[in-house]
Amino acid sequence: EHIDWDAEAAEKGGFDTYMLKEIYEQPTALTNTLIGRLHDETGEVNLDINLDPASFKRISIIACGTAYYAGLVGEYLIEQLARIPVEVDVASEYRYRSPLVSENTLAIVVSQSGETIDTLEALREAKKHGAKTLGVINAKGSSMTRELDDTLYIHAGPEIGVASTKAYTAQVSAMLMLALWLARARNTLTDEQAKELLHAARELPRLVEEALAPERVEAIKKVAEKYAHARDYLFLGRGVNAPTALEGALKLKEISYIHAEGYAAGEMKHGPIALIDENLPVVVIATESFLLEKTISNLQEVRARAGKVIAILSDGDTANAVHADDVLYVPRAHEMVSPVVNVIALQLLSYFTATALGKDVDKPRNLAKSVTVE
Ligand code: G6P
Repeated sequence: EHIDWDAEAAEKGGFDTYMLKEIYEQPTALTNTLIGRLHDETGEVNLDINLDPASFKRISIIACGTAYYAGLVGEYLIEQLARIPVEVDVASEYRYRSPLVSENTLAIVVSQSGETIDTLEALREAKKHGAKTLGVINAKGSSMTRELDDTLYIHAGPEIGVASTKAYTAQVSAMLMLALWLARARNTLTDEQAKELLHAARELPRLVEEALAPERVEAIKKVAEKYAHARDYLFLGRGVNAPTALEGALKLKEISYIHAEGYAAGEMKHGPIALIDENLPVVVIATESFLLEKTISNLQEVRARAGKVIAILSDGDTANAVHADDVLYVPRAHEMVSPVVNVIALQLLSYFTATALGKDVDKPRNLAKSVTVE
């Protein structure tokens, strides 16, 4: 007699795909990333890193793909909170551009697998020029971890889906912890500011859980289905959420094969605005921010050209809902941690777009989970 059971179905834990399972694992993954590392009573972060955070004059972040976007969020957070100049490179460029490196440079490589060849070679290049090296890595004992001065593991657990989800939110959270670690050592934050940020970080697992509430997921699915036959998509965000727009566009193209571009909202007028017509869905990340008013005026520029606006708004923001064709509400979060919360809606939007189109989200064409050839 045939037993209707297979090991893969069991590993997916009741979900149709690894990607969806991993999206739902994010509250747990984030708990594991943050646990034991943040002390909001004292405002201290304990990352067990054997490097002196006060000794660096510049930081270079190096990564590929989704990890690169986590690096861009890291750049924003480190410059904002710790006031150290940061540059971010895609690894394939860094390794060939003779970067300026000294002993006062901290090179941070971000990689889920720890095996991506371009990132590994870039790490070797940074080391060769005397940089101290730190990895933000998921896979234990991977090639990079054996060559790095130290590793901050993100503890997201195995990620099988080719499109990265839980590794991204864990990487972004790790970048926040690094920004705080550097900031504390450099005295760029008051105790009160540090405590507030640590508290906001600790809220992340709960906020992400809330972002995954069934009624929100249902709303995202409806919007995804409504626009699944669009030929192109545009994603806009500002400030710490400009990289969220880039990641949203990457996720969509990776698994649905819809052409998508992510842009800093203020840059739209310098090019992508020419693409806007009634067939173009434009996702605008317009959550609580000191830049919200500016983002809303970008959103109105899209509207004025008949683009279809899908606004990502903070819970309770009914005032700005009138400017959008569709609204997806996300939990309110401290702006500095909001990229982690906001990206959940974009992950689900790509997921449901791809499944509406009948695509195999776990094995998107032409992509590999980890790219170990140049
Ligand atoms: C591949 C994957 C991406 C990933 C990138 C970097 O292109 O398809 O999802 O972001 O590699 O991988 P890493 O393991 O270095 O984070």
